[in-house]
Amino acid sequence: MSEPIVLGIESTCDETAAAVVQGGTLLSNVVASSMDEHARYGGVIPEIASRAHAQQFAPVVTKALADANMDISDVDAIAVSAGPGLAGCLAVGVSGAKALAWGANKPLYGINHVIGHIAVTQLQFGPFPDDTLALIVSGGHTSLLHVQDVARNVQVVGTTLDDAAGECFDKVARLLGFPYPGGPYIDRHAQQGDPHALRVPMGLTQGRAAKAHPYDFSFSGVKTAVARWVEQRQAQGLPIPVDDVCASLADSVATVLARKAMQACKVFDSKTLIVGGGFSANSQLRAKLTEYGQKHGVDVRIPRIQLCTDNGAMVAMLGSNLVSAGVKPSSPDFGIDSAMP
Ligand code: KG4
Repeated sequence: MSEPIVLGIESTCDETAAAVVQGGTLLSNVVASSMDEHARYGGVIPEIASRAHAQQFAPVVTKALADANMDISDVDAIAVSAGPGLAGCLAVGVSGAKALAWGANKPLYGINHVIGHIAVTQLQFGPFPDDTLALIVSGGHTSLLHVQDVARNVQVVGTTLDDAAGECFDKVARLLGFPYPGGPYIDRHAQQGDPHALRVPMGLTQGRAAKAHPYDFSFSGVKTAVARWVEQRQAQGLPIPVDDVCASLADSVATVLARKAMQACKVFDSKTLIVGGGFSANSQLRAKLTEYGQKHGVDVRIPRIQLCTDNGAMVAMLGSNLVSAGVKPSSPDFGIDSAMP
């Protein structure tokens, strides 16, 4: 049998996206973002995002099929993110995908968005080894995962106990007056700053809590420490060295992520680290992971930015893995799960 053609649909947050893959080949990839509509509120407004999905669903799916020179009858299966994410947003994507699958009589897979971030790396790097570690970092997630079989067996090794890395950056960025999402602004300013200018704590790397949670993360204290430092200087009427603040924050977060990921690779005897999620666009993290990977003999696979941020290709690729592994489609009454583990 030739490789399955899968349409993937994504609507967990502020991106309405659809893509078509055949095996490990990406045939189309369309993303419509409502990010600009949220910028003036300083964060994603679920109601606005849901309305945008309802508006964009049909045009985005239509374009993804057209760009792949196909119509829905050419597709072997449809996959849609069923969680985790914003409930209203997920409901639009899942309802739309159900209607499409039902109307065209196609099997439908409700997939886990976070595992999609792992699966998508196959489009750039090819199949990954049976046993690998994955670091997924975004605005909503920071997770270390042990991937034995992407279709059937992915275990959580560690996760954030409070803020995700992207969330921590976005909150500090807001304090510094940058628009939402502030992560990319911190990245740019950090490139001109001194990473050792401020003593920023390395979240959950020392003491009893760190021993109890060797692969978990905590970025809330990091954010608070930077916020206090900035507020104290503001109260004293002193100027804020923005580049240095950004560089010190970025260095702390990137070091913790890279250090814990490498430690997990060693313990799980994995020679490959898959990296994904919007925050993996961060240049300090990319540099740190590359440096640590070379030092520890780990092949670090960070895909190009379009595949790191939310997209339909990640959903389609995981759908393709499920079809190829002979996993049964979801039952017609499957629901959304905004807190999907
Ligand atoms: O995976 P993603 O596109 O979607 C959500 O989880 O919502 O990740 C978005 C997150 C935001 O927090 C954003 O500030 C962060 O990724 N981000 C970055 C960079 N690009 C995006 N953070 C730091 N440096 C970047 N270059």
